[in-house]
Amino acid sequence: MDAAAASTQAGEPYAPTVAGQDEQPLFRARGLSKIYRMGEVEVHALRGVDFEVRRGEFLVLLGPSGSGKSTLLNILGGLDTPTHGSVFYRDQELSKASEGELTQYRRAHVGFVFQFYNLIPSLTARENVELVTEIATNPMEAADALRLVDMGDRLDHFPAQLSGGEQQRVAIARAIAKQPAVLLCDEPTGALDVSTGGIVLRAIDRIHRELGTAVAVITHNAVIAEMAHRVVSLSDGQVASEVVNASRRGVEELEW
Ligand SMILES: Nc1ncnc2c1ncn2[C@@H]1O[C@H](COP(=O)(O)OP(=O)(O)OP(=O)(O)O)[C@@H](O)[C@H]1O
Ligand SMILES: [Mg+2]
Repeated sequence: MDAAAASTQAGEPYAPTVAGQDEQPLFRARGLSKIYRMGEVEVHALRGVDFEVRRGEFLVLLGPSGSGKSTLLNILGGLDTPTHGSVFYRDQELSKASEGELTQYRRAHVGFVFQFYNLIPSLTARENVELVTEIATNPMEAADALRLVDMGDRLDHFPAQLSGGEQQRVAIARAIAKQPAVLLCDEPTGALDVSTGGIVLRAIDRIHRELGTAVAVITHNAVIAEMAHRVVSLSDGQVASEVVNASRRGVEELEW
């Protein structure tokens, strides 16, 4: 597989760091394991995962239910901590960070998008985004973030006045308004029909291209993997395969 081909797609304003180059990755995990203890029962959600995310990369994570995808994403995002192993964000070792340091880390560097949008019902789209921009270190204007996801004409709508796909785009605007280095998406289209899911993916793709944000997307839809620079599949808490796409498909080209 020609890894370099992944970074040379026409029209891309920047190149992600690809395999073989020694530039420091955005994330670097080694021997990552996570054991959840529920009384007498131990669940091994991750079993010795070595994993990297490179700057500006579009990464897709596949794998069956229970294979550890969300656990891995949550550890990268500082929402959970590993039982063994190390994970670094640039030079910061997340696996040694305190709760307070993880909070600071999330606030400055990570945008999350989940299957369910978790917008505050009593706040407008703009106000939902402002909840983040008010505490972020380097935010963009809430209205600008909403314009990036084509929601510039819905600034003063409440969540109940928006469709599911529109609410998800507000959630994406909220995630990227802090200008994070990485956008972590856990089944962002899981609750949406195919065409609405396509619109949401287009918004994520635009963020990736225009802001250079690294993106990691968990999905059950293998078609979405064709958009990625790299596809990592998990199985039973381990990395089962890793594929570098020689050429990526644009979101418009995906055949559902
Ligand atoms: N907070 C928790 N407490 C106990 N067990 C957990 C917890 N979170 C996850 N697990 C277990 O860890 C394993 C991996 O879960 P995880 O949520 O990472 O899977 P997943 O690949 O995201 O699955 P899905 O596709 O269904 O979302 C599962 O067996 C799950 O039951
Ligand atoms: Mg999951």
